[in-house]
Amino acid sequence: MAQKIQSVKGMNDLLPVEQKDFKLTAAFWQAFEDTVGRWTRAYGYQQIRTPIVEQTGLFVRSIGEETDVVGKEMYTFSDSNDSLSLSLRPEGTASCLRAVVEHNLLYNSPQKLWYMGPMFRRERPQKGRYRQFHQVGIEALGFEGPDIDAEIIAMSADLWEKLGIREYLTLEINSLGNREERAAHRAALVEYLTRYEAQLDEDSKRRLKTNPLRVLDTKNPDLQEICNAAPRLVDYLGEASQNHYARFKAMLDGLGIQYVENPRLVRGLDYYNQTVFEWTTDKLGAQATVCGGGRYDGLIEELGGKPAPSIGFAMGIERLLLLVSEYGSLEVNAAPDVYAMHQGEGADLQVMKYAQALRAQGFNVMQHSGYQSLKAQMKKADNSGARFALIVAQDELANGTVTLKDMKGKHEQQTVATADLTDTLQQWKNA
Ligand code: HAM
Repeated sequence: MAQKIQSVKGMNDLLPVEQKDFKLTAAFWQAFEDTVGRWTRAYGYQQIRTPIVEQTGLFVRSIGEETDVVGKEMYTFSDSNDSLSLSLRPEGTASCLRAVVEHNLLYNSPQKLWYMGPMFRRERPQKGRYRQFHQVGIEALGFEGPDIDAEIIAMSADLWEKLGIREYLTLEINSLGNREERAAHRAALVEYLTRYEAQLDEDSKRRLKTNPLRVLDTKNPDLQEICNAAPRLVDYLGEASQNHYARFKAMLDGLGIQYVENPRLVRGLDYYNQTVFEWTTDKLGAQATVCGGGRYDGLIEELGGKPAPSIGFAMGIERLLLLVSEYGSLEVNAAPDVYAMHQGEGADLQVMKYAQALRAQGFNVMQHSGYQSLKAQMKKADNSGARFALIVAQDELANGTVTLKDMKGKHEQQTVATADLTDTLQQWKNA
């Protein structure tokens, strides 16, 4: 036998059934997608779909060369026909904005957009952290806030409510101020951290040179004391930034949305300013952040568009659904309404016709394929989870009738005239 080929490490198959080390099924995922479709419509967002591959320069310019995502984790290759460097997208914001600028979508009105799809980061895989993972993201482009900042938080909280996981998530917020405020804070931070350079680990020493704000992000317990006493960005905010942040918080208060202010929340991508936030949970081990986002007021201009202040967030679908599958609620309806069985010559074709007629009336019908005993077919019907079984054997074929069985036993088995098939099933379904 030929050797089997395995899937790529950190990249999962979504199957109709649960796997040992990956519990999510395709039906569960699809139920989530349906919920997302209704949720985004309820808030007036329109879908955008962009390619999975982009020019590497897009991510370098937007996310930042010194970030882990761009510096260490991208899948980058050169197109064989020319020397253009391409990368699998590690996130959705950059691609979304590239498309918006390219197609001039902000020409005469702001945009509220959402997207969903696979992203790629070459991280060390573990539960909740994958190399191909999926995000749902929203981007509100051309809005200054702080009203939209609060609205998108309320929008996310609404989704957690719908999925039954609101109580397991904590909202953390911070303000990163504007560029000048960050520069002043950065100078003070570098001065402070340089005093402790000898005590820093290798990662932090590197970040001190490249992206000092990220030193504060360290998980190293030995550095917590140094980081806790470091100059705080929030103390460098000017009046306008403070005002934006205060109005944002007042709106959250007004909406009854609780939050924790975390002055060390800096996010892992370079494009943010002013409002940033994350929804975290203590139920997923180390992979605690389910959703993150914030303002990126300068990014559209950096990508060649006209200045347009904007904000957005993205959630990791795997992390979210792991949480939902364990603690939340999401109705999954993958079973057919009817399992259609047949026995004897000619019954296969007749059943096929009935099945088509029922589908035209809105029933989901799974037809038995192949030729087995009725007993074996009934077992399949049972396994399919179908609510009803439809049987055409020789008697039914001869008499122009159909036998119907309620798999939940709520109705007596009944043999009805073909003309009454749909009505009877409809009555049973509604009962
Ligand atoms: P991010 O924080 O890099 O932000 O990713 C958003 C979410 O994607 C994370 O909170 C996490 O749930 C999920 N995620 C990230 N990496 C992985 C991974 N390796 N495996 C599983 N899940 C993962 C962004 O990507 C920004 N584009 C969000 C945004 C939109 N900001 C403004 N607009």
